[in-house]
Amino acid sequence: MLGASPQRQFYAGTNLDHAVTVEDLRAMAHRRLPGFVLEYLEAGGEDEATLARNIAALAEWRFLHRSLVDVSRRDVSTVLFGRKLTIPVIIAPTGLNELFWPHADLRLAEAAAEFGIPFTQSTMSNDAMSRVARVPGLRYWWQLYVFGPPNVRETLINRARDSGCEALVVTVDAQIYGNREWHKRTTAGPTSLSWSSQFDALLHPRWFARGILTHGMPRFENVVEFVPKHRRGFFDSAHWIRSQMDRALSWDTIARIRERWPRKLVIKGLLDVEDIARAAEIGADAVAISNHGGRQLDWAVAPLDLLPAARQAVGDRIAILVDGGFRRGTDVIKALALGADAVLVGRATLYGVAAAGKDGAKRALDILREEIMRDFGLLEVRSAAELGPRLLVRANPWLRHATGITAPA
Ligand SMILES: Cc1cc2nc3c(=O)[nH]c(=O)nc-3n(C[C@H](O)[C@H](O)[C@H](O)COP(=O)(O)O)c2cc1C
Repeated sequence: MLGASPQRQFYAGTNLDHAVTVEDLRAMAHRRLPGFVLEYLEAGGEDEATLARNIAALAEWRFLHRSLVDVSRRDVSTVLFGRKLTIPVIIAPTGLNELFWPHADLRLAEAAAEFGIPFTQSTMSNDAMSRVARVPGLRYWWQLYVFGPPNVRETLINRARDSGCEALVVTVDAQIYGNREWHKRTTAGPTSLSWSSQFDALLHPRWFARGILTHGMPRFENVVEFVPKHRRGFFDSAHWIRSQMDRALSWDTIARIRERWPRKLVIKGLLDVEDIARAAEIGADAVAISNHGGRQLDWAVAPLDLLPAARQAVGDRIAILVDGGFRRGTDVIKALALGADAVLVGRATLYGVAAAGKDGAKRALDILREEIMRDFGLLEVRSAAELGPRLLVRANPWLRHATGITAPA
């Protein structure tokens, strides 16, 4: 018996040309990063059932491909908010990116600009908005966390407007911080790392020398001014900001933001069809159906689970973005076929940037484009306009009724 042979491993070296999948970039990142950063990158809330569901939901769909279509010319670009996306992908907002690579916000933004997709900068980012927004050719998006008194959000919204930001992404699913138990294991209280995490960081010289040793601890450049002076250390300021999140955040606040914000408005973190319909009613331009990459409420559904019903509820009135677990071209195609306009990727490009900075992020996007292009050919579709639910069937037959989509007899 040969058993499980041949034995395979993802590539975990340092030559980007050898990374052929996003999982290779992930393996490269794992080798470079210390344990506490890896936990921050990978982990979810509590038992990580939501995190697992994101992957499982994708795995439930199988393709029914067409045949004998001329696919010698294929176009994997789409249009969002009237402008072209090279592939139907947007870089999701992620905080604390400096932990992964020096000036990682800038490096991700440069990769996005060169590639021709938007980059969303998080409220909890580490590079100044004024620098990131000026990256040549970038479709710049800013993600807003609503915290502190109203003047905080007003200041941030004004700055985003003045910096030429195309879309304001208001994240509404993190007013209460998810129960990330790993965080308690890697830290020693709210202001510092545990001794074992510090020791482990020293054992990762490629990360340590290029990061903290050269650049010092990261700062929350765009919001640190709102943090009391005695609480501006890296971990402490993150802790303080979390404690100031507006727990009374409601549709009224969103309506006020809508009045104030003149450009595209995206509400991120919705996971209920009625809420998605309401976002359309109050004049949002898009929703991002999301469970925050499995980091907030555990045992939540995956965005993909809601997608067909969400599309039915809002029709073509607003754009629908989804995220959670997208690592492959086939993942992106499934989301589009079920009704999404584009997907947000969080970890996929973070693996790239953590492995090799801007070139790594770019490699992640190149891999996704190559996969989408090849998969369009294999599916025998020529453009995103030809994608639809008829190309998919639930692998788990008793779940078919959930969407009304069934395999042909
Ligand atoms: C390390 C990390 C940090 C994140 N920080 C933020 C954030 O600051 N703001 C936000 O709206 N979402 C944040 N998210 C959620 C992402 O925007 C996105 O919803 C999620 O990563 C999508 O899942 P994926 O990582 O499987 O692609 C974060 C996710 C990760 C992995």
